[in-house]
Amino acid sequence: MVDSQLQEIKDRLDIVEVLSGYLRLSKAGRNFKAPCPFHNEKTPSFTVSPERQIWHCFGCGQGGDIFTFVMKMEGMEFPEALRYLAEKAGVELKRVNYEAAGAKAKILEVNRVAKNFYQEQLAKTEAGSLAKKYLLGRGLTEESIGNFEIGYSPDAWNDAENFLIARGFTRKEIFSAGITAARDKDSRFSSDQNSENYYDRFRGRIMFPILDISGHTVGFGGRTFARKDGQEAKYVNSPESLAYSKSRILYGLNFAREQIRKTNNCILVEGYMDVIGSHQMGVSSAVASSGTALTSEQLKLIKRYASRLILSFDGDDAGQEATRRSIDLAIFAGFSVKVVILPAEKDPADFVDNPDEWKKLAAQAIDINDFYFKNAFNKNDANTLEGKKAIADELLGAIAKIPSSIEQSHWVKILSDKINVGEKVLLEELKKIKLGKKSAPEISVNGAGSGFLVKNTEELEGYFLALLIATPDIAGNIKKIEEYGFVFNNSDFQKVYEIVRLRGEECLRKEDLMLDLKKILAPELFRNLSEISLKAEYYYEIGNESEKTNKAFEELLKRLVSKQCEVKQKTLEKDIKIAEKNKDHELIKLFMKELAESSQKKEKLTK
Ligand code: CTP
Ligand code: MN
Repeated sequence: MVDSQLQEIKDRLDIVEVLSGYLRLSKAGRNFKAPCPFHNEKTPSFTVSPERQIWHCFGCGQGGDIFTFVMKMEGMEFPEALRYLAEKAGVELKRVNYEAAGAKAKILEVNRVAKNFYQEQLAKTEAGSLAKKYLLGRGLTEESIGNFEIGYSPDAWNDAENFLIARGFTRKEIFSAGITAARDKDSRFSSDQNSENYYDRFRGRIMFPILDISGHTVGFGGRTFARKDGQEAKYVNSPESLAYSKSRILYGLNFAREQIRKTNNCILVEGYMDVIGSHQMGVSSAVASSGTALTSEQLKLIKRYASRLILSFDGDDAGQEATRRSIDLAIFAGFSVKVVILPAEKDPADFVDNPDEWKKLAAQAIDINDFYFKNAFNKNDANTLEGKKAIADELLGAIAKIPSSIEQSHWVKILSDKINVGEKVLLEELKKIKLGKKSAPEISVNGAGSGFLVKNTEELEGYFLALLIATPDIAGNIKKIEEYGFVFNNSDFQKVYEIVRLRGEECLRKEDLMLDLKKILAPELFRNLSEISLKAEYYYEIGNESEKTNKAFEELLKRLVSKQCEVKQKTLEKDIKIAEKNKDHELIKLFMKELAESSQKKEKLTK
């Protein structure tokens, strides 16, 4: 069978998630357990390993991967299970795959031999020794250089290619791996010493091999270190290939995963040097997204080992923007997130001579709200009126998203002190923001490890959304949602809902609506939605019986609204107690009113 596609499906699906659709898995150490579905037993000996992505029953001795599980469970033959899981994973099965699998293996082989070549160049040539000197000068040790298999690509047009040809690879294969690039016909190189069509992509660069989890060399990052004209790019990277997809790889994960699992903590840094430096300093749970914005595929990889994420990006604007985006994405993926604040213009790699400093900074990672504060005050001048307004706007927006009113007032107080604006005024503004955006996310969705819980609130919201789309009377159901004033906690779901609401009035068929959503939504979000729809269909047995679907929809609506009320009431009760302690009568009155409204709403639900 086609290995690369099997692998792709396995990469995209998490075994715990897939099996959770069938079994009640509970966490047991680093694994999950359940009573075995394939033989009769009382004490669970059916074990699932998220790390290895396999299952095994210690009772009956059976075991395998997601494919074997689905085959047994659903009574499917392999091709059917493959189609089923491919659809779940959003992988399009192609016919030419025998070829593709072979081609991928070839690329990995080319890369492996190229890696050895570059390493030898670093160790044994004069030019290579300059590269090595540079690395040592930056504080890396011989050991790190060896562990990370760093090399040097000679400053020549065909050395790597010729070496690989001598080892039996064809020019085409070398090109497919991205070791060479193709000349265009009228390029400035065409009359050069060499009339061939390809030239070495990496020339005169320090070579960082990029390995996947299994240790295959999927690509390279090549860094300049002695700039000749200051014109060339700092990094040249392998192109996307059958083996290398930069959105699905994390540099250093193969070295870091054991430590990440042990500490339930992953530190995300920006670059190759940062990863290597951090590992050398003894902080070996560091990985890098390598210059791309963090992707949900990368988060999924991390999720196999940890539920806590520490972001440590540059202090510059781009780095801060990347941090913000990564925070949102990571929280959506169920991580608890913290941020390391680095001194201006310093990277983790800059601490190699002072490991304790880096360890300290990493250990002192701050809460995301602290991060937002630091950021807003760095960007604006808190002494001018404009500055104050900008700071307040930005931070009140973030504060409005915090579930607890007490926590909100804690941050409002800090903000008030810092910009010297009365708390009451800020609270008024906050209220406006909350009303305007209708964002009342009372249920926290970012619990550690929540990604694995079956039917947590977020998951229920997903199914609710899926049911909404699956019901024939979309318009009627939208009305109900609006009547209850229901707002999704999950902002992505809310976004989808708003699109559905706009289009739903036209009484669309589900298929047309899904086609629309596919065009509008980010691919990742759409894939997520499709997966949820699939699960919802499974859980709620959505078929042609519209009545059943409608009923499930209404039940879920009530359940979610009532849950929101409950959570809100609990928070309010706590808040009232504290307000009473502080004898803040105005606040007490406000909270009491909200509490009464909320319990009325809940009562109405049960009628
Ligand atoms: N990067 C890239 N292409 C560039 C610049 C950066 O692919 N032109 C990626 C690399 O993966 C790099 C990461 O972004 O490792 C971070 O960039 P940067 O901080 O500039 O490089 P470092 O690797 O940290 O190198 P150094 O510390 O030596 O500046
Ligand atoms: Mn850097």
